[in-house]
Amino acid sequence: MKKTILVTGAAGFIGSHLAEAFLRRGDRVVGLDNLDCSYDPERKRANLDEVSRAATSPNQWKFVLGDIREVAAVDRLFDENAFDAVVHLAAMNGFASSIEDPLRHYDINVLGTLNLLNIAKQHLVENFVFGSSASVYGNTRVLPFMETDPCDHPLAPYPASKRAAEMLGYSYHHLYSLNFTAVRFFTVYGPRNRPDSMAFQLAEGIAGKKKVRLYRKGQMQRDWIYISDLIDALVAAADRPLGYEIINLGCGEPVLVADFVELIERHADSRAYLIPALLPDIDVPCAFADIGKARQLLNFEPKVTLEEGVARFWEWYHGSGAAAEKLLPVEN
Ligand SMILES: NC(=O)c1ccc[n+]([C@@H]2O[C@H](COP(=O)([O-])OP(=O)(O)OC[C@H]3O[C@@H](n4cnc5c(N)ncnc54)[C@H](O)[C@@H]3O)[C@@H](O)[C@H]2O)c1
Repeated sequence: MKKTILVTGAAGFIGSHLAEAFLRRGDRVVGLDNLDCSYDPERKRANLDEVSRAATSPNQWKFVLGDIREVAAVDRLFDENAFDAVVHLAAMNGFASSIEDPLRHYDINVLGTLNLLNIAKQHLVENFVFGSSASVYGNTRVLPFMETDPCDHPLAPYPASKRAAEMLGYSYHHLYSLNFTAVRFFTVYGPRNRPDSMAFQLAEGIAGKKKVRLYRKGQMQRDWIYISDLIDALVAAADRPLGYEIINLGCGEPVLVADFVELIERHADSRAYLIPALLPDIDVPCAFADIGKARQLLNFEPKVTLEEGVARFWEWYHGSGAAAEKLLPVEN
């Protein structure tokens, strides 16, 4: 049966891909986003144009320009649409910006989530999926990262806000039996990546657009997950009310940042414009997921290899106008 789904943050990187995926399988989708200025809103409008092309009828897709913190407007949205599921992706991102403006991060990521939970519960929404982050693990010694980790040492207000939102989800499940699944994303990459994401920054360095800091000479491990794999898992999470669950979403394999750089360099046929830097104490040398729960509960199996994903990412970056028109010569 076709569903009606609310995607918050629908103009962003992950939200726009997710809205498209629901539309392609015939669901009705409402996208809520305030097109904030964390990066160029024009990029978000372009994402929305692509989403609207996936709709087969005018009633299938509706974009609402609005803020998740607005109580009356969000309540009206739920009144007007009987949502089967909410996938909540709207957020303020980034460690550095959360240190600069912790109150704004908490306001959006915690109070905004609380507003959605409260209204979802009042409207008896069956399933609430929350886009959390692997950063909640902080500098845990438990590798790979396991969902059983207490995650009580977040290294900055951003991960602390994500963990707080996960815990609010538990309260709403406990008090009102709301089905709540927090999915902890590892390093997501692909077309429409945010300009502050590691993949986009590295591409900028490779395109010779700017010098990009490379921590520990790239000797740090990340769990890269290609956007289409993440979307498959998010669709599965939206389809399955699971009570209360926290589920890691990565590929389950650590890959050196240096190897990721080398792969893009190969596809770009150009050397990266990078400057060595020390790892800041808000970052961790190694992050990768145990994905046993995702396999078991979401039938998840990553399909896109790093080689394939990087090729697609570079093709998008290079063709999207985001890349420098001329590659600058880079000294070895
Ligand atoms: N991209 C990753 O690698 C990654 C990793 C871990 C977690 N996440 C989480 O996944 C989600 C989506 O991330 P993304 O990379 O697509 O980010 P994004 O910035 O591209 O998308 C987030 C969207 O939320 C919107 N937004 C922000 N505040 C809002 C508000 N108050 N009301 C309504 N809309 C608002 C923004 O305008 C933006 O379009 C976020 O919650 C993020 O924390 C992403």
